[in-house]
Parts: sequence; structure tokens; C-alpha cells
Amino acid sequence: QWIYLNGEYVSKENAKISVYDHGFLYGDGIFEGIRIYGGNIFRCKEHLDRLYDSAKSIMLDIPLTREEMQGALVGTIRKNGLRDGYIRLVVSRGPGNLGLDPLRCPAAYVVIIVEQLSIYPEDAYRDGLRSVSVSPRRNLPDALNPKIKSLNYLNNVLVKIQSNQAGVGEAIMLNAQGYVAEGSSDNIFVVKRGVVYTPPCYIGALEGITRGAIMELCERLGYKLKEEPFTLHDVYAADEVFFTGTAAEVIAVREVDGRAIGEGRAGPVTTRLLAEFRKLVT
Ligand code: PDD
Repeated sequence: QWIYLNGEYVSKENAKISVYDHGFLYGDGIFEGIRIYGGNIFRCKEHLDRLYDSAKSIMLDIPLTREEMQGALVGTIRKNGLRDGYIRLVVSRGPGNLGLDPLRCPAAYVVIIVEQLSIYPEDAYRDGLRSVSVSPRRNLPDALNPKIKSLNYLNNVLVKIQSNQAGVGEAIMLNAQGYVAEGSSDNIFVVKRGVVYTPPCYIGALEGITRGAIMELCERLGYKLKEEPFTLHDVYAADEVFFTGTAAEVIAVREVDGRAIGEGRAGPVTTRLLAEFRKLVT
């Protein structure tokens, strides 16, 4: 396995970075998780848009143009001979001194890792996941804007720890006002009486690329879609609940906080959206 590290391909064992990297010391950096389907990068432009917008927002100079970055992604995929898998693209502030001043970090690090993906087993897509709501709150736009896909994932890690403790596949994070925001690394949707709902990103959610693809599919398939705030009550009372994400794709939820959702397995809208999503990518 070859890792792209600042313009070079190095073996996995030799892919090492400085302990003075501010991504490591301060979580100062950004990342993307991207899928490769049949040798193609899924929604490459959208991922690069989000990456470069995140970089702009935190005043991080990415030492590659978009074209060069796309070339580096393609090069790394080819070098590893991968046709289906997952790309992790990380840009950190790079090495500086122990102070947090980014001015002391002359050059960002760019790392690209491509791997086979181990996702949920296929029956989870049919049967749905169990889920719980958890106590960490999603930060709102004034603090750590969830629209920035930054290396500050401690909240999400705490959510993952709670979902592990509850023995469920993905958890539901609320914002400080108690509105449903998203999962630890997935966006959330609910379906009620044929209408599909997802929280607007200002509630505290990443503007997910898979979320965007599903919203487009809803429109194409004629499902009414509403981007509006909702609470856990609406999740418990929903006919269907599902998560979306680059790694998870579209995964149904069959139970939330001990309440069975719908029929207790992937419902018709979720099943249809997953099937159409898979057509889109293959
Ligand atoms: N997840 N919300 C959070 C907090 C995320 O980290 C992610 C991405 C999503 C889904 O966004 P997208 O559809 O663009 O992947 C929502 C990880 C990194 C992933 O699935 O690869």
C-alpha cells in the first residue's frame, strides 16, 4: 500500500509525519472521506469544493491547485491499483513550534490514503441499525462550524464511544437546543407519511455529499423533501429513519432509544433510495 505524502509515494510503514504537526498538536487541519466506485472518484468536484472552502475558512494554504489535487488523488488510486474503495485526504497546518500560531507553520502537509472499505454487512442495509441519542451536543456555526470538515472530531469521537457502549451502529447527535443534528459521521433523514425530512445544516450538520445526492434523488423520484428542524419525537414517530455518508451510503435505522421505527426493518423509501443511489455510483 502506497501513501501520498507531500508529493511523494511512500510505503505505509514509512508514511510518517512530525510530532510538531499542528494537525496532531491542535487538530489544526481539514479532511475529506471520498469513495471510489469502479475506478471513478464519486463527486470529486463536490469533495474538492468542500475541502477548499474549509481551507479558505481556516486560512490554510493548500500547496496544490484543485487540478493538482485531483491528479494526486487519481495518481494514488492508480499506484495502489484500486477500483473500489475509500480515500482519506488530509491537509494539516504542518509542522511548527509548540505555540499554536499558524504563522510558524510554513508548509501544510497533504496526505492521501486509499484503502479497501469495510462497511456494514449487507444484511444491515436490509434489517437496519439500532441507534440511540447521545449526550454530546453538536457545535453550532459560531464555535466550530460543522460545515468545516476539520480535524477537530472529539465530539464525534465521544458520540462513537457512547454508541459503542450502547452496542449500536450509529448514534444521533442533537444540537444545544435539542434539535436533531446528525450522527457521529453521517447525516440523518426521517420519512413520515411519504415526506422525507432532513435537518438544515444550520442546525449543526456537515453539508454531506451523500446527503446532497439523496436530496437530488428525492426530487428526481418525486418524493417531497423538507429541509427543516425536527426533534427526537419526530424520529421516534417516523415511518422510516436512515443515515447517509460516504462510508455508510444509505443505511436504515430500525430502532431508536428502544422505540421500533416503522416495521422494524428498512422501509420502502429507504430501500428505494439505496437502490437508486447504488445505480448512481455503478
Ligand atoms: N463522514 N457528518 C459528519 C460529521 C461526517 O463526518 C460525515 C462524513 C458526514 C457525511 O458526509 P458525506 O456524505 O459527505 O460523507 C456527515 C465520514 C468521514 C465518511 O463517511 O467518510
